[in-house]
Amino acid sequence: MNIHFLAWFLILIGFSKSKRYDNYSLYNLVATERFQIKFLQNLETQKYMDVMFWRRPFKLYTDIQVLVNPMDLGLFKERLVHFGMNSRVLSENIQQQFDQQLIRQYLRLKVDSYSWDSYHTLEDIYQWMADVAVKYPKIVKLKDIGKTGEGREILALSIKSPSSRAKVIVEAALHGNEWVAVEFVTYLANQLIRAEKSQDSKLKRVARKFHWLLIPVANPDGYAYSMKDDRLWRNNRHVSNNITLGVDLNRNFDYSFCTQGGSKVPSKEYYCGPKEFSEPESRAIAGFVSLHRKDLNFYFSFHAYGQKILIPYSDSVKHIENFGEMENYGKQAILKMYKLNGVKYSIGTIYDTLGE
Ligand SMILES: *[C@@H]1O[C@H](CO)[C@@H](O)[C@H](O)[C@H]1NC(C)=O
Ligand SMILES: *[C@@H]1O[C@H](CO)[C@@H](O)[C@H](O)[C@H]1NC(C)=O
Ligand SMILES: [Zn+2]
Repeated sequence: MNIHFLAWFLILIGFSKSKRYDNYSLYNLVATERFQIKFLQNLETQKYMDVMFWRRPFKLYTDIQVLVNPMDLGLFKERLVHFGMNSRVLSENIQQQFDQQLIRQYLRLKVDSYSWDSYHTLEDIYQWMADVAVKYPKIVKLKDIGKTGEGREILALSIKSPSSRAKVIVEAALHGNEWVAVEFVTYLANQLIRAEKSQDSKLKRVARKFHWLLIPVANPDGYAYSMKDDRLWRNNRHVSNNITLGVDLNRNFDYSFCTQGGSKVPSKEYYCGPKEFSEPESRAIAGFVSLHRKDLNFYFSFHAYGQKILIPYSDSVKHIENFGEMENYGKQAILKMYKLNGVKYSIGTIYDTLGE
């Protein structure tokens, strides 16, 4: 492959008029004292400096990550010294890391050319989904499960063989900026579609046994916005009082609405929305789940980043009845992933792991 070929297929997102994060620093902090956690939690709620927590402060001896605007860096560093915080700089210019994230163009009808070494635009992901449905009509169907606030389609792939019955729903990018989760779900789809021709007997077995329902981009408006305008855009594009604030779709479902880890304040990053199911995207997903609830065995939601397997719930210290069974599955997966690439995952309820 020559250089010209490469340059033509890779689009550098830095060219667009998007919000830039030049000289924003990413810090890793570890609190060893209660008052240090208090300082960080206060910073997160009061926002008296322009910071964004990538790993939220809730526990001692656990990594906390925070992105700091260069305008506030002096004050931030001064506060770290004041509180005796243990800190490490992970990036002095996060824009540089963003600029290295490449978006590869997909040429329609060339299903085999789709690759997983870079990211893809929503249009290209949808084109690829439509193309695989056309190419493998016996096992793959394209489903339109609803529309977003900005009128985009929310698409799912249904992948099943004649013997499959029990259903599995896999969803990603409920948060628009979590691009890598999208790539995982399309990768999984591709593996399942090609399972019959694979040498991998386990893959073949899960492809035959389950009816897979995959939603690679659950928040298309937020995903598109995070690609074109603001790499860190998490929410959907909900407008209130003529201002686009966005709702955190993961906080918009009706179960224990806005009681844990969410905010009723519209300007907050974790804004739950005016009421449960106020957003078309969360309603579409709920409708899709209801439609398939009869034989639904598993529901997986993929997020980024962090190496964690999270089990419900976030609002209870008490473990659910089949926690042990889920933990057991998770631990087997963790061991396999570790053997594969040496990456260590942790597992626990959302309450125990994220403190929310
Ligand atoms: C980032 O910092 C460098 C070094 O201090 C400086 O030269 C550059 O102008 C800064 N960039 C922006 C966009 O502020
Ligand atoms: C909303 O903002 C637009 C553009 O700034 C303006 O033209 C319009 O009048 C505003 N609408 C309301 C209801 O405030
Ligand atoms: Zn997320």
